[in-house]
Amino acid sequence: MTSLIKSIQDIKNVIAKSAKPLALIPTMGSLHAGHISLIQTAKSECKTIIVYIFVNPLQFGPNEDFSEYPKDLASDLKTCEENNVDFVFAPEINEIYPDIESVKRNLITPPCELADILCGKTRENHFSGVATVIKRFFDIIEPDFAYFGEKDLQQLYIIKWLVKEFNLPVTVQSCPIVREHTGLAYSSRNKYLSADEKNIAASLYKALKLARGNTRSGIFPLNKAILESLIFLSHFPEIKVEYFEAKDKTNLANVHNDTKHGFYYLIAAKIKKVRLIDNIEVP
Ligand code: PAJ
Repeated sequence: MTSLIKSIQDIKNVIAKSAKPLALIPTMGSLHAGHISLIQTAKSECKTIIVYIFVNPLQFGPNEDFSEYPKDLASDLKTCEENNVDFVFAPEINEIYPDIESVKRNLITPPCELADILCGKTRENHFSGVATVIKRFFDIIEPDFAYFGEKDLQQLYIIKWLVKEFNLPVTVQSCPIVREHTGLAYSSRNKYLSADEKNIAASLYKALKLARGNTRSGIFPLNKAILESLIFLSHFPEIKVEYFEAKDKTNLANVHNDTKHGFYYLIAAKIKKVRLIDNIEVP
C-alpha cells in the first residue's frame, strides 16, 4: 500500500519508523517506464522506497514549459502502488521553498565545466535549480541511496558533484536509459508529441547509433562521425538540433580523436517546442 505524503513533518515521521536502507527516487511526476526502472532497481537494493514528485520551478527558464508540464498525480499514485512504492512525497511549492525569492538569490552553483556546457549553454541556471532542489530533498529525507537515470546524463554528473561537494551521506545509483520499441527514450515530454512526431523523434537515437557505429569501425574521426549523423538528421526538417557532441566519460570534458577513455555522444533537439535529449556510450 502506497501512502501519499504532502508535508515535511509527516515524511520525517514515517521515515523515523521505516526500515533501512532508504531509497529516494526524485521525479517531476508523469511517471513512465524510465521512472519505473529506477523504482525497480531501488526495490532490489533497499527496504523502504520513497518516490518524490515535485515540479521544481527553479530549473525552468522564463520561456520554458513549467506551467504546462504534464501533471497527473492520480495516475502516478497508481503506478507507484503497482510497483510497491512505500511513500509518495508530493509537497506543494511553499512547503519546499517557504521563501522562494531568497532561495533564488542563493542557488547552489555547480562548476561551469559541468553546468555551462551541453544543455547549460541554452538553459541558463537550469543545473543550479536542479542542484538546489536535490540538496533540499536530500536534507529532508536523508536517503541512503538515490536513483537517477542516465538519460539525463549531465544532470547525473551534477548530482555526483553535489554529493561530493557537500559530503552528503548518500550513494548515487545510475540506471540505464529505457526506450520505446522505436528506440525513442521515454520522457514525460513525449506526451506533447503526436504518433508521427514520436516516430521522427526516434531518429535521434538512430543518429547516435550511427555515430557510434562510424566511430567504432574507425572510418571517421569524431567530428566527421558527428557530421554524418547531422546529415542524417537533416532529412527530418521537423528536428532542430541544438547540439550533438562527444564528451569524456570521466568528467564530460571535450574528447579528442586519440582519447583513451570511454566517451558519450550526446544530443539535444527540438521537435516543435518539445525539447528532447538522449545519449549513447562509446566504450
Ligand atoms: P524527471 O524528468 O521526472 O526524471 C526523474 C528521473 O527519471 C531522472 O533521474 C531521469 O534521468 C530518469 N529518467 C527519465 N527518463 C528516463 C528514461 N527513459 N530511462 C531512464 N531513466 C529516465 O530529472 C528530473 O525529473 C528532475 O530534473 C529532478 C531530478 C527530479 C529534479 O527536479
